[in-house]
Amino acid sequence: MRLECDDVGAGYPVFVLLHGFPLGRAMWADVAAGLARDFRVIVPDLRGHGQSPAPRGVYTMDDLAHDVVELLDERGVTVPVVLAGLSMGGYAALAFAARHRARLLGLALCDTRAGADTAQAAQSRESLAVEVETSNSVGPVIESFLPKLLAPSAYEEKPALVETVRRMMSGQPPAGVAGCLRGMAARPDRAPLLPTLDLPTLVLVGEADRITPPDEAQHMADALPDARLVVIPSAGHLTSVEAPEATEAALRELVAPIKARA
Ligand code: MLT
Repeated sequence: MRLECDDVGAGYPVFVLLHGFPLGRAMWADVAAGLARDFRVIVPDLRGHGQSPAPRGVYTMDDLAHDVVELLDERGVTVPVVLAGLSMGGYAALAFAARHRARLLGLALCDTRAGADTAQAAQSRESLAVEVETSNSVGPVIESFLPKLLAPSAYEEKPALVETVRRMMSGQPPAGVAGCLRGMAARPDRAPLLPTLDLPTLVLVGEADRITPPDEAQHMADALPDARLVVIPSAGHLTSVEAPEATEAALRELVAPIKARA
């Protein structure tokens, strides 16, 4: 499937940034602009989001990863890349790593987890997908996710940020939102993959992330052979939006040794 993307900057290595659900590439905008001063940065709208196609159906994390492989091929990116994924983007990044390890130089798993959904979580996603389809609106997802995406203090102290995130969500097509909900519910447990990922990895998490909390990040970092854990103070689940400078700095640190070896 042909994805729409931003492809900005120039330089080695190439970053690919995968967004969370249901937000679209805009959630990486500040980080991408910062990194693009020194690197090529490719930021797609994953299928079902933004300007990319949103067919009806279940979007597995393998589908999302396969779309990214096709995007790299289409853009002539044959060198291994540094792949960063936030939350659902992290699930897709792990699916990519499982099948296309040779195309990776480094990995950043941001506010995400390796484990599968519990049966109850998968059931809640299915109910939400049905609500989205029945109402033909992303409203039920905004109602369910927006109150927990940001650090608790943001809802009183940063109303403009809350509105920005609401706008990012409200632009997403219902079929795409339902497809991702069902795909996330069906994703496999990637914990067994982690010890095999012998590449520089950043595990990044907001201190106040309530969806994928810091102890999940710690577990992933412990299981990975070459990982560094960065906890961003005062940020919630959307570190790239809530703390873009700290997120960019952590990504730059991830690639410093890679760049030095080039
Ligand atoms: C996301 O931010 O991508 C979602 O919160 C992931 C999820 O619901 O598991």
